[in-house]
Formats: sequence, structure tokens, C-alpha cells
Amino acid sequence: MPTHWNYPDQALQEELSRIANAIVAPGKGILAADESVGTMGKRLMDIGMENSEENRRKYRQLLFTTDREIGNYISGVILFHETLYQKADDGTPFPELIKSRGMIPGIKVDAGVVDLFGSDDESTTQGLDDLARRCAQYKKDGCEFAKWRCVLKIKEHTPSMQALMENANVLARYASICQANRLVPIVEPEVLIDGDHSLERAQKVTETTLAFVYKALQDHNVFLEGTLLKPNMVTAGQSHAMRMSPEDIARATVIALQRTVPVAVPGITFLSGGQSEEEATINLNAINLHQGKKPWALTFSFGRALQASVLRAWGGKDNQIQAAQMELLKRARANSEASLGKYRAGSVQGKAGDAGLFVKNHAY
Ligand code: 13P
Repeated sequence: MPTHWNYPDQALQEELSRIANAIVAPGKGILAADESVGTMGKRLMDIGMENSEENRRKYRQLLFTTDREIGNYISGVILFHETLYQKADDGTPFPELIKSRGMIPGIKVDAGVVDLFGSDDESTTQGLDDLARRCAQYKKDGCEFAKWRCVLKIKEHTPSMQALMENANVLARYASICQANRLVPIVEPEVLIDGDHSLERAQKVTETTLAFVYKALQDHNVFLEGTLLKPNMVTAGQSHAMRMSPEDIARATVIALQRTVPVAVPGITFLSGGQSEEEATINLNAINLHQGKKPWALTFSFGRALQASVLRAWGGKDNQIQAAQMELLKRARANSEASLGKYRAGSVQGKAGDAGLFVKNHAY
């Protein structure tokens, strides 16, 4: 019987639990600022800027020099490799700026999605080969957690067994390598919002996906108390005919999680997945207000839904840096309130407010 494995030693268990719990402390969530060079290029192009290393640095500097108040709402920042080694104008390394605001640096460690040969346009995520070496280095360089994104697609015949098994397994292998190197793995199986499927279909696919993921994590001896889950909220497909209420979304999301995510997991940090800033906040708030068992912290790890207004307000102009930082503070505060079930819809107006942030077949 496969029942003879070793738990991590006590010191490692404590270290991983401490980091995971700090990230999901009450009223706090994650800023996902780990856009790859290509994805960041698209964001910069939207505001008429060239995708140069210097422009990417200037934008990230804007984020990480926001007023210290940001540390009340944001516990962790996910970085892209390049950003981890960049510095502010005054020479301060970005991880130091982040830590000085009471936030924990994290790092995207996957190397992007690749096609599964012969499948109906499904994918797995690559990057395992030298992952142990990179994790050890990132830990030395100040990171305390990592992120790896896998993507599942809802179509008539997908996700397939092949995609469910492969993505669960690669997430589990990634999680175990992170923990061996003292990084908390954020496990991200994103069921894409693309399609015209119903809320019920999205819920079933999310339940099945998460069931595969937690079986694989158990099979790989992953210490669940030292992990975080980053799932999609359960919503109907982006082009579904009917709009669902935040309460419907909250119910479907919480039930899917209740059925599949062990109580040992300290927190669930949702991705925004193409929802508008305001939608993502309202839905997170409804999830926290939903009456029912919720034994984990339920908070945010938003990329687009924390940055859309910031980018618009900045527009690449030096004299708009402060205005852009105000947008980040406002949105972070709104999401902090939502993670406590205390957000009042419409009470925070951002530059990008209700603007759709959907990107077809989104790559990160
Ligand atoms: P979005 O919130 O833009 O979906 O991105 C979050 C993320 O980190 C995806 O990996």
C-alpha cells in the first residue's frame, strides 16, 4: 500500500504554514504582478508604450513605491523573474521595496503553457526540468512563495481525462519541489471563462478539476497546510446568454470548494480571470457573505482586476504616477474589504471600473 511517506520535518512544516497563513491574514490578499515579458508588452501597448525593459521597470517601480498603506491590504506580490532582479531609481532592489511595505515577495516559476499533442486545443504547463535549482535560488534571493498556472478549457468534450490528469500531476510535482526548497506553492488550476457554458457546467468542471488536483497533491506527499489554492471563481462562460448574480456565483463557487478542498488548506486566493475590477470585487464580497461552511480564508490574487485602472491612470506619464498609485490603493482597499465581506458595491470608482478585462484564451 502506498502509505509510507515522510511528513516534512517540524521546522519546515512551521515555516511553510507561517508563510501561507501570513499571505491570507484577515483583510489581505495578493497582487499578481508577474506578467511575462510578452503579456506585459500587451498591457504597455494598450497605453501606447513600447515594451522595453526600462518601461517594464518603471511600471513595476510605480507599483512597488505606492504608499505604505498598501501593506494593510496586500500581503504578497507575485513577480516575474526579470522583475525580481530589477531596482528602483535609487538603487533599492524591488524585493526590498516590497518587504519594506510589509509585503512578501513571491515568484512565478512556470514557463508557460504548451499544447497537448492530439488534444482538442488543451494544454499543460512546462518548467519542471530545472525547477529545484531555480526555487533554491529564489529562496536565497528573498522569495517566500511561488506560483504555477495550469489552464483547463470548457468545451463540448473538454477538459479531457488527459488534461485533468496531466495538469493535476504537474501541479503536484511543482508543489512538492517548492516545499522541498522552502517556498509555499500557490497551486493554480485555472478553468478558463471562455465559452458559452452555464454556471452549472462551470461548477462541475471546477469540482472535477479540483478533485484531480487534491488527489495528486496527496499522491505527491504535499503538505497541504503549507500550500494555497488559486482557483477561478465559478461563473458562467464569458459568452453565456444569461448574467448570473453575485449570489449565484458565490453559491456555485463555495459549494465547489466545499466538495473538493481539504480543511487543511489555509487559504484560497482567487484569480480575476477576465472579470472587470468591480465585478471581481463584488463577487469576492458575495463569496465571503455566502452562508455556509467556509473553513479557509477566501481572498484575492488578482492581476488584471488590480491593475487595469492603474495602467489607465498612469498612461506612461511621469506626472500621473501618484494618480496611478492612488488607483492601486483604492482597488486594493476595496478587495481587502471584499475579503472580509464588507465591500459596498460601487463605493470605489476606478478609472477602469466596469470595463471588461476578458482576453480570449488568456496567456499570462
Ligand atoms: P488575473 O487576475 O488577471 O486572472 O491573473 C491572475 C494570475 O496571476 C493568473 O496567473
